[in-house]
Amino acid sequence: MFLVTGATGSLGRRIVQQLREQETPVRAFVRLVSHYQDLEDRGAEIFIGDLRQDKDIEKACRGVKYVISAHGSGSDAQALDYRANIELIDRAKENEVEHFVYISVLGAERKYEDSPVFKAKREVEKYLVNSGLNYTILRPSGFANNILPLAKRFRETGIYLLIGDANNRSSIVSTDDLAKIAIDSVTVEGAKNQILPVGGPEILKRDDIPRIFGRIFKREPIIINPPLMVLDSLRTGIGFFNRELESSLGTLRTLLANEFFCSEEEIANLESIYGLKLESLEDFLKRYLDK
Ligand SMILES: NC(=O)c1ccc[n+]([C@@H]2O[C@H](COP(=O)([O-])OP(=O)(O)OC[C@H]3O[C@@H](n4cnc5c(N)ncnc54)[C@H](OP(=O)(O)O)[C@@H]3O)[C@@H](O)[C@H]2O)c1
Repeated sequence: MFLVTGATGSLGRRIVQQLREQETPVRAFVRLVSHYQDLEDRGAEIFIGDLRQDKDIEKACRGVKYVISAHGSGSDAQALDYRANIELIDRAKENEVEHFVYISVLGAERKYEDSPVFKAKREVEKYLVNSGLNYTILRPSGFANNILPLAKRFRETGIYLLIGDANNRSSIVSTDDLAKIAIDSVTVEGAKNQILPVGGPEILKRDDIPRIFGRIFKREPIIINPPLMVLDSLRTGIGFFNRELESSLGTLRTLLANEFFCSEEEIANLESIYGLKLESLEDFLKRYLDK
């Protein structure tokens, strides 16, 4: 039995769907308010709980063989990115879980002081490595599904808003490939006790994305490119009345101000460990936009 947290998220939902396609038993950790009907229809065991509650995590971990931690945090990195994962690791140990897969983030090791999410992920990584559990830590770059709403807006308007440096590079990963990698991590020998950067097959500059949209929709992109200073001013203004939002904008700023890409060697290594050919952003978008 797998336990998947964040089972209604972009990644977690795909993990549960793929597990059920293989008819593998999976317990999906969901909130009562989440949309989880399709997961239940596919035969996932639904566990309703809240990752802020230790007793829910304790119950969810009972009798599971594998854990995939794929939940996000909204604006509460301390409770969800940090504490809930520490609790999951402790309970996984107690239940003699055979393998723990943790979805971290590309660049987690870079000590971005401005981002509570990056800091939490790095601390959880260290805790997991020292836990004595078998683990795989996946450090993905941005998910391709995040680009879908932008593509749909571009289809309507031809406009693409690019905040900050257009030359910054990223290796956006197909969310479906990442789901497969997360699942296979519990069985593939080369993934055991590894920390692996996960990206798509190509290194993209940020202004390659509107160009891809232009090719798909056969339309010349209009790129609006304000400097990062605009976000900084907004963030300072918000800080006067909402410290929590200001802090989450720190993660957004970190993402916009830095480069998140995998080297060719890292991608070749990943493809060889998992025996797969990673999907390009353009192919991912075409596949979903055609649906
Ligand atoms: N998106 C990216 O580009 C990206 C890049 C690198 C790493 N990551 C990491 O990958 C992981 C998955 O990201 P994602 O984009 O798939 O996340 P997502 O779509 O934002 O989904 C977050 C999930 O966490 C669940 N969740 C939030 N608070 C919860 C709580 N208190 N109790 C139980 N469940 C809770 C949400 O449930 P509800 O449905 O009820 O809201 C949802 O299922 C995250 O750890 C993220 O940091 C993401």
